[in-house]
Amino acid sequence: MPYFMQAGHVPRKRFSQHPDATGRLLFAEVIGQHGFSSDMCLLYHRHAPSLIDAVTVPEPATLPAARPALIDNQPLLPRLFDTARLDRSGSTIDARVPILGNADVVISFAVAHAPSPLYRNAVGDELFFVHDGAARLETVLGAIDVVAGDYVVIPKSITHRWVPAADTPMRALVVETTGHVRPPARYLSSHGQYLQEAPYFELDLKRPQGPLLAEGEQVEVLIRTRSGFTRHVCRHHPFDVVGWFGCNYPYALNVADFSPITGSFHRPPPVHQVFEAPGCAVCNFVPRMLDYDPRAMPIPSFHSNVDSDEVIFYAEGNFFSRQGSGIRRGALSLHPAGHIHGPHPGAWQSGPSRVGQRTEEIAVMVDTFQPLALAHEALAIEHADYVYSWTR
Ligand SMILES: [Fe+2]
Repeated sequence: MPYFMQAGHVPRKRFSQHPDATGRLLFAEVIGQHGFSSDMCLLYHRHAPSLIDAVTVPEPATLPAARPALIDNQPLLPRLFDTARLDRSGSTIDARVPILGNADVVISFAVAHAPSPLYRNAVGDELFFVHDGAARLETVLGAIDVVAGDYVVIPKSITHRWVPAADTPMRALVVETTGHVRPPARYLSSHGQYLQEAPYFELDLKRPQGPLLAEGEQVEVLIRTRSGFTRHVCRHHPFDVVGWFGCNYPYALNVADFSPITGSFHRPPPVHQVFEAPGCAVCNFVPRMLDYDPRAMPIPSFHSNVDSDEVIFYAEGNFFSRQGSGIRRGALSLHPAGHIHGPHPGAWQSGPSRVGQRTEEIAVMVDTFQPLALAHEALAIEHADYVYSWTR
């Protein structure tokens, strides 16, 4: 997606010969989406990126399944999970715990203490929401320093690794897609610039700053493919890019830079949208003024998601509409299509009207258009009887 950028040493003319300081030609690589008919980036390597000395399949015990085994949500239930109970030791790859998934997305949670292997996802873009901690995302296009509250979009087939800060693990919600994560098309002009009514803007995006050169030979890279994990031993370190340009690169957006759209009466969920991807939409609820007309309803409506399953990750705040439900920081709920839900009794049975007040909550919502099934690992962190939390 975002907008065109260039970094490092690049030629004046696209697809022209590009020698290094010694006169030796650099190796150009195009990473292009949709059969090279959409966004792309063009990288200039010191070494041919196709030099591979070994290909192996990783031992299954060392990694979670490339696609988790899933259990249908049958009988249909709303679900509640507690990511605060997750503490699997490892990296963003091997400590990634799947919770929900379907053919379009897998929603996981990772608690990363250690640097990840060099890795790329050849199935789809990955979207992280960093809940706690900080990390440096190192990529073949450069590094981005990531902090809590950042969304991080890592495009398909961009080789990278996560390096958590030394003092605290990084805890992150992870959405693996089967396509590309983009801003909603309605936020952009026909030429791709964010429109003035969009809730965030180019200035809010953190982009890789300059190439990241690393030396090394016989370097392992883990690849998530449509048929499982594969490991390559590359003759040279993949971070050997002296320059690149294009619109296909990783970037970060902090949730605090999302300017909420509010109104005198209820505004529907699309005003909270941040990203779209095949089969899903990502929204967030951020600190904002609640509906401010004195006649406004004091609590949100009960509702049915007619065409989507609704996943909400409760990141910060006291979640007014969930009072009495047991939902707390780090909880993740699933409200599936076919189940009517809404504010919990603690929100509508007592307390002063919230009309015109502020809410300080931060929550990330992932709506999927195909039904979500449960990963086996999710059962260990599920709260029983969430379906009755509106009743008791
Ligand atoms: Fe809902």
